[in-house]
Formats: sequence, C-alpha cells, structure tokens
Amino acid sequence: MSILFTPFKLGGIQLKNRFVFSACEDNLAAEDGSLTDNAVKKNARLAGGEVGLIISSHMAVHPSGRNVIHQPLIYTDAAIAGLKAMTEAVHEHGGRIVFQLGYSGVVHNPTRGQDPFAVNSLPEESIREVIKAFQTAAERAVKAAADGIQLHAAHGYLINQFLSPYFNLRTDNWGGSEENRFRLLREIISATRKVLPESKLLLVKLNTNDYTRTPGITPSLAVNYAKYLAELKIDGLEVSCGTTALSTWYVCRGDIPVPEVLSMFDPAARPQIEPALRKMQESVKFSEGYNVEAARMIRPVMGNIPLFAVGGWRNVDSMENAINNGDTDLISMCRPFIREPLLVRRIREGKTSASSCTSCNRCYVAIRKNIPVRCYSKGLPQ
Ligand SMILES: Cc1cc2nc3c(=O)[nH]c(=O)nc-3n(C[C@H](O)[C@H](O)[C@H](O)COP(=O)(O)O)c2cc1C
Ligand code: SF4
Repeated sequence: MSILFTPFKLGGIQLKNRFVFSACEDNLAAEDGSLTDNAVKKNARLAGGEVGLIISSHMAVHPSGRNVIHQPLIYTDAAIAGLKAMTEAVHEHGGRIVFQLGYSGVVHNPTRGQDPFAVNSLPEESIREVIKAFQTAAERAVKAAADGIQLHAAHGYLINQFLSPYFNLRTDNWGGSEENRFRLLREIISATRKVLPESKLLLVKLNTNDYTRTPGITPSLAVNYAKYLAELKIDGLEVSCGTTALSTWYVCRGDIPVPEVLSMFDPAARPQIEPALRKMQESVKFSEGYNVEAARMIRPVMGNIPLFAVGGWRNVDSMENAINNGDTDLISMCRPFIREPLLVRRIREGKTSASSCTSCNRCYVAIRKNIPVRCYSKGLPQ
C-alpha cells in the first residue's frame, strides 16, 4: 500500500491518510459572513472524496481583520450554527476539519470601509483585543464541533507581520528582537490553548520565506520560530511562503494570468503593471513540492511534531518520496482539490497518479474578483 494511504496520528486525532486540504478562501460565505449551503456542500464533497484533514477557508476573528467580502466570520456567536452545519456534514462523510483563524492586517478589502490594525500602529490595548479575539474564536470553533484550529501566521497577515523584521519596526515588547516579534504568536497560542480541550488540534501555518524586498522571514529565521513552536508543543506545523500583499505569486507558484490580473486595475495603470508581472513570472515558476526544501531545514528542530509542507504537490511519486524521505509527514494541497475534490479517492482507486491542475492560477485571481472560487482553467467570467 502507498504510504499516502497509511493512517497518521495528528495530536489526539487519527487521520485516515496523509492528504490535507490546505486552507482555501472560497468566497462562499454570504456578505454577512455566514456560511452558505454551497460552502457546506463543498466541504462535505471533499470529505466524501476521502481527504484526511480539511483546513477551512481563512476565517476572520475580528471585524477589523476581514480580508475579502465573502469571507466566513467567526467573531459573533451567530456564526456558530452555520459553522456547525459544516463540521457535521464533514464528520458525516468520515472527514476531519479544523478552522483556520486569521486576522488580515495589511491585506484588507477596502470596499468594507473598515480600517485594519497595522503592525506598527497597534497600541497595546488593541494587541490585547486581537489576542482575545483569537481566543473567543477558538471557543466558537469548539462549540461548532471543529476538530481544532489552525492559526494563520503566514502570507503576510497580521501574525506574519509581527514575526517579520521587514514589516515589524516596533521597538517595544512586540518588536526589536526575535523573541519580541514572536510574542504575539506565543500569546495567541497560550490564549487559544486555554479554551481548547486536549482532544482538539492546535496547528500553525508559518511562512519560511516572505520574499519581501529586504529580508522578512527567511528560512533560517523560520527554523528559529519553528524551534519556539516545538517548545510550545503545537500539534502540527504547515510551512508555506510569500505574502498576499507584496509577493503573492510566491504563495501559489505557477503561471501569472496576466490579462485577468490586469483587468482588475484601472486601464491607465496597466502599462506600468504589465511589464512587472511578466518580469516576475520567471521567479515564480512552478516546481513540484516547492516548500519542501524549507521543510527539510525545519524538520530537525521539530522533534516529534508533525510537519506538513504545502505548495506544488502534483505527482503521486514525489508525494510518496517526500514522506518516505522524512521531509514531510502530510501532503497538503489546495489548487489540486479546487480542480478535483475527489482526487484522493481517484488516486486510491488507481484512476490517476497526478493532479490535472496546471497551476494557471485563475482560481487564485477569483478571490480578488469576489466570485466563487472554482477551477477556471478555461477562463474567468468577464
Ligand atoms: C483560491 C485560493 C485560496 C487560498 N486561500 C487560502 C487561505 O484562506 N488561507 C491560506 O493559508 N492559504 C490560502 N491559499 C494558499 C493555499 O493554502 C496553498 O498554500 C497554496 O495554494 C499552495 O499550494 P498548492 O500548490 O497545493 O495550491 C489559497 C490558495 C488559493 C489558490
Ligand atoms: S484554475 Fe484550475 S487549473 Fe488553474 S490553478 Fe486553479 S485549479 Fe488549477
């Protein structure tokens, strides 16, 4: 039997295989942040397709930390019933689901007209409010019967900003040294752990490279942060890279769909933007399992804590090799499951040995177009 279909113990939870659906903003929440039936159905289908662990779409823990208009919100008790319908549907189909909790920070959809907190202007009182917001969101996740939470500390959102010497220019207790930059994540872990029963997972998604103009998180800094996370005994670490605001194409390596991206900008600005996009294409070319090298650096400091690299898994052979080599414990994928929610089952049945996702990234552009995220390989709607 392929190693991919061997069970795996993650914290207190037994996963039936090594496949994880990495968090995926799907624009399937209503404008008030409540989940729609389509969001419930999407996750039930993934569970029925035998994905071992689903990480939910990025949920906002505070009104000022929203990212996109159709993002699920978890900052009021009113959200619990809809979220519970989703977890129950996943469980009925034999799946597991953790909620990804995040605070968008610098990346914020201005159409909401709300000011996000920004790392360098947040007063102590607001930092405390953010920590509390993560804690109450974790409590709601438990009430909604989630199998745990994943703290979104990657992709340039608020926690990543605190961790990054590029974004974080603070000189108080929350910046200026590695320990201080790590403080926000440490405090959020400690606050959320207090409300999570032992049986629930506490996972973290961390950048191993911010790809900012001057160094933010780099692989060697990520190793140090991973060491702190191992000491805090989290249940698992997912490693990614890139920041949505400044280095977005590193998050999702592949093709930059230039015409579709340009269509979102004012026509007058397009002539300046187009050459920059074309120039960037070379640096963000697709490669199989593109975060695995960073995972390999981090592995020695993680002890027994499971590690999962996300980014660019497309071929069963390379997935198996990465697990057999000890580079990653789980195979975390996003775009392949957008394209084929039943991919795991098809692999198990021997119907395919590779994802058919071409990494064209049109689904990624769909997030910012505020339309439902699905495979748009044949083109986005005009
Ligand atoms: C449409 C789309 C939505 C995404 N939404 C999230 C998200 O909510 N949270 C997150 O941490 N990453 C998000 N990502 C990044 C993925 O989780 C993953 O890190 C990235 O797509 C690389 O993996 P892949 O090659 O398997 O797609 C998203 C990616 C895509 C394409
Ligand atoms: S639009 Fe489809 S083929 Fe293109 S990256 Fe997304 S899932 Fe893959």
